[in-house]
Amino acid sequence: MTVVKKCLFPAAGYGTRFLPATKAMPKEMLPIVTKPLIQYGVEEAMDAGITQIGVVTGRGKRAIEDHFDISYELEHQIAGSDKEELLSSTRDIMERCTFSYTRQVEMKGLGHAILVGETLIGREPFAVVLADDYCVTEGDGVLAQMVKLYEKYQCSIVAVQEVPKDETYLYGVIEGDLEADNIYRVRNMVEKPAPEDAPSNLAIIGRYILSPDIFDVIRSTPPGKNGEIQITDALQLQAQQGRVIGYQFAGRRFDCGSIDGFIDATNYTYKAQTK
Ligand code: G1P
Repeated sequence: MTVVKKCLFPAAGYGTRFLPATKAMPKEMLPIVTKPLIQYGVEEAMDAGITQIGVVTGRGKRAIEDHFDISYELEHQIAGSDKEELLSSTRDIMERCTFSYTRQVEMKGLGHAILVGETLIGREPFAVVLADDYCVTEGDGVLAQMVKLYEKYQCSIVAVQEVPKDETYLYGVIEGDLEADNIYRVRNMVEKPAPEDAPSNLAIIGRYILSPDIFDVIRSTPPGKNGEIQITDALQLQAQQGRVIGYQFAGRRFDCGSIDGFIDATNYTYKAQTK
């Protein structure tokens, strides 16, 4: 049985909505209380049994690499003090995971960013996490839920959630047939449709499991919405062959690519940590 061992983090975007905070700092490093967004994503991948992490970065993203590395000076300073504990989560990540990086030189869309990651993934199924989408769950993380599904379906899987109909223009939207509880066989998918053109209100959230042929599909996918190469368009080709599952996951998602979502996530996490 093929298992998912690698997770790709597209992290080259500018994060203009958070300027000036993101002028010199990657948006993926914005903290929800004390952990940067990308660390939550890596922990979700680990929770799914994935320890090979690939990151598609760009200019100005060095802080991500430094975050998942030892800081000798800092560690030396706090060794033996009660502050040592504060670095235990990143230490645990570094002990269990490997990190590889590659750069997206030009911003040509999410599909393009994933294609740039091919060199880190090779020819095997892999997960994709968009760190902006911060997901909290009661039990298994979203990716762990999806990896289990992959073992059964052996095809691409997208996480979906219902959104208000007037917000479909912010998401990839799927149309599918309910195959089991919370599981849709996707027939059609559209990137950021106007509400009147949306085939449903089931929106794609930034968690994917992709089958290895996706790279070839992306290569032949022309630019779509906003002139960018969209992963939604590439997946549409697989969907037409019945090879995409939409999974309405158990859990809550915060859109940390928006100020409101980021503040909600911060309040939620702070309350959860201090109660
Ligand atoms: C991307 C995808 C979109 C998906 C969304 C989830 O859009 O293109 O299909 O619904 O992530 O967050 P972005 O938010 O990067 O514009």
